[in-house]
Amino acid sequence: MSSIMNMKMCRLPQRGFFLYLFLFSMVIFLAKCSQGLGESVGTKLELIHRHHLQPMTKLERLRQLLHSDIIRQRSISESLRLKKIRNTTGRRQVLENPNATYYHPDCSNSSRRDKSGCVSGKMTMNSGADFGTGQYFVSFSVGSPAQRFVLIADTGSDLTWMNCKYRCHGAQCRKKTRKRRVFRADHSSSFDTVPCSSRMCKIELASLFSLTRCPSPHTPCAYDYRYLDGSAALGIFANETVTFGLTNGTKGRIHNVLVGCSESSTGQSFQEADGVMGLGYSNYSFALKAAEKFGGKFSYCLVDHLSPQNVSSYLIFGSHKTEYSITTHYRMRQTELVLGVVNPFYAVNIKGISLGSIMLKIPAEVWNVNGGGGVILDSGSSLTFLTQPAYQPVMAALKLSLINFTRLNLDIPQLEFCVNSTGFDESLVPRLVFHFADGARFEPPVKSYVIDVAPGAKCLGFVPSNWPGASVIGNIMQQNHIWEFDLANNRLSFGSSSCT
Ligand SMILES: *[C@@H]1O[C@H](CO)[C@@H](O)[C@H](O)[C@H]1NC(C)=O
Ligand SMILES: *[C@@H]1O[C@H](CO)[C@@H](O)[C@H](O)[C@H]1NC(C)=O
Ligand SMILES: *[C@@H]1O[C@H](CO)[C@@H](O)[C@H](O)[C@H]1NC(C)=O
Ligand SMILES: *[C@@H]1O[C@H](CO)[C@@H](O)[C@H](O)[C@H]1NC(C)=O
Ligand SMILES: *[C@@H]1O[C@H](CO)[C@@H](O)[C@H](O)[C@H]1NC(C)=O
Ligand SMILES: *[C@@H]1O[C@H](CO)[C@@H](O)[C@H](O)[C@H]1NC(C)=O
Ligand SMILES: *[C@@H]1O[C@H](CO)[C@@H](O)[C@H](O)[C@H]1NC(C)=O
Ligand SMILES: *[C@@H]1O[C@H](CO)[C@@H](O)[C@H](O)[C@H]1NC(C)=O
Ligand SMILES: *[C@@H]1O[C@H](CO)[C@@H](O)[C@H](O)[C@H]1NC(C)=O
Repeated sequence: MSSIMNMKMCRLPQRGFFLYLFLFSMVIFLAKCSQGLGESVGTKLELIHRHHLQPMTKLERLRQLLHSDIIRQRSISESLRLKKIRNTTGRRQVLENPNATYYHPDCSNSSRRDKSGCVSGKMTMNSGADFGTGQYFVSFSVGSPAQRFVLIADTGSDLTWMNCKYRCHGAQCRKKTRKRRVFRADHSSSFDTVPCSSRMCKIELASLFSLTRCPSPHTPCAYDYRYLDGSAALGIFANETVTFGLTNGTKGRIHNVLVGCSESSTGQSFQEADGVMGLGYSNYSFALKAAEKFGGKFSYCLVDHLSPQNVSSYLIFGSHKTEYSITTHYRMRQTELVLGVVNPFYAVNIKGISLGSIMLKIPAEVWNVNGGGGVILDSGSSLTFLTQPAYQPVMAALKLSLINFTRLNLDIPQLEFCVNSTGFDESLVPRLVFHFADGARFEPPVKSYVIDVAPGAKCLGFVPSNWPGASVIGNIMQQNHIWEFDLANNRLSFGSSSCT
């Protein structure tokens, strides 16, 4: 129960490539949203916080969290490496730019930017990071009538899937579904399997690990995910109807959403989670499908990673303007969202990092996504990973500012520098700023990089990763900000917010 797993999902060796998921063993804490539709404005799927049954110390949680994070980071690097190999060997480029057309609700007329004029969808999000999970959850209603699940919201995943029973009979079903929530496909009139003989199965879903097995033309298209720790998820693809609340208080539905019905999942990774919501950039991700209906964009606001469980925020499809007030001293900034280069990840162009308004000396290639580097914004990683040529100068400068604090050895191999934080005052630490190539600046709060790890102890929240490779801005760095992914216009907007 207490173990938290984060794994890389990879294709069977003979298929030769990888997918990533970040999964945890956790316990559902709350699903108080069953009558949530209509209680506030917005299309909503709710992100739900999960708790550990057994109490763990903050430090234990952090150790587990970091273990997961490292594996995820490796899988990101591996993905980029394999992508290069595929390209140079001239094989089919599997990950292409999605070609979506977006419906734009009328959100442009400011006099109509009210609850009826500009309808968005929203789903409640909660932080799990205070339990060492570093994840955010969304409550997902799927099928007709709708069945409700708790999914991990992951910008690094393209497939949305949940534990599921496609065909089962009587006692057999009940026996297997006793312990966890399972989608009952046979109870849903909108469950529509993808035939294995279809072009969709054979070609388009190849990037989502479809199997070639096809005993008869109408057999459902199957997938097989293998995890590094030996866990696996096997299932079938289907189109389904997803239900969520709209900001005008009614229900919205999206039909023909590709979902994975995971009939078996072995290993620790799935024990507590119902599945994953794919928010990555790929033709079949839920993010794209929902964004198509809501002006081509989605956004989330990550509450402080130490927030209590009853503090929630939203995952929003469409305009977030009716939902959040932006902290006035920090207006929304914009930068280019680099789509299609490292699918399904969202990349950004950074040109440097400064500390206390001094630009750190970091070689330019570190930031070049086409030159072995680049930066990914990831909701599924917790800490921020910097490749060695960026890590060294950032750490050296930050360590200097903490020189008067007693160094602690907390036995967390990934976190190099921790101090006894007695007497710590944020004003002692110079502000760190990420500078985007197009001029925008992202200035996270100090607590996002001098992280509270235990009572009286703080650590610098950066983790080194190998060069060449991508750097990853994790969700702790993203906290207390709105992040809007405008897929139609390749824009990333962000702004400081309490998320409430
Ligand atoms: C693949 O290689 C071609 C030619 O070498 C290059 O133009 C293209 O940008 C590469 N694509 C990716 C995604 O790296
Ligand atoms: C995404 O869709 C476009 C157009 O429908 C198609 O050309 C492309 O091959 C698709 N990409 C993948 C990965 O299936
Ligand atoms: C995207 O769609 C447009 C128009 O439908 C088409 O001209 C273009 O070739 C498509 N791009 C890709 C990558 O499929
Ligand atoms: C905005 O909406 C208002 C009320 O619906 C309408 O009177 C006005 O003409 C609209 N403005 C524009 C620029 O469309
Ligand atoms: C709510 O918005 C949806 C989508 O725009 C629309 O179809 C529906 O009629 C609206 N309902 C109300 C009560 O405004
Ligand atoms: C599933 O939905 C897609 C659109 O997302 C559609 O092209 C496809 O035909 C559907 N397949 C089935 C079996 O309904
Ligand atoms: C959350 O719970 C705590 C105590 O359990 C309470 O003090 C706080 O007001 C609650 N916050 C919200 C937003 O409900
Ligand atoms: C460390 O303490 C010394 C002596 O109190 C002080 O002069 C110095 O400014 C401090 N350095 C930092 C980085 O806080
Ligand atoms: C930090 O130092 C104080 C004394 O300055 C000590 O009481 C406390 O136990 C130390 N905390 C840790 C976590 O080592």
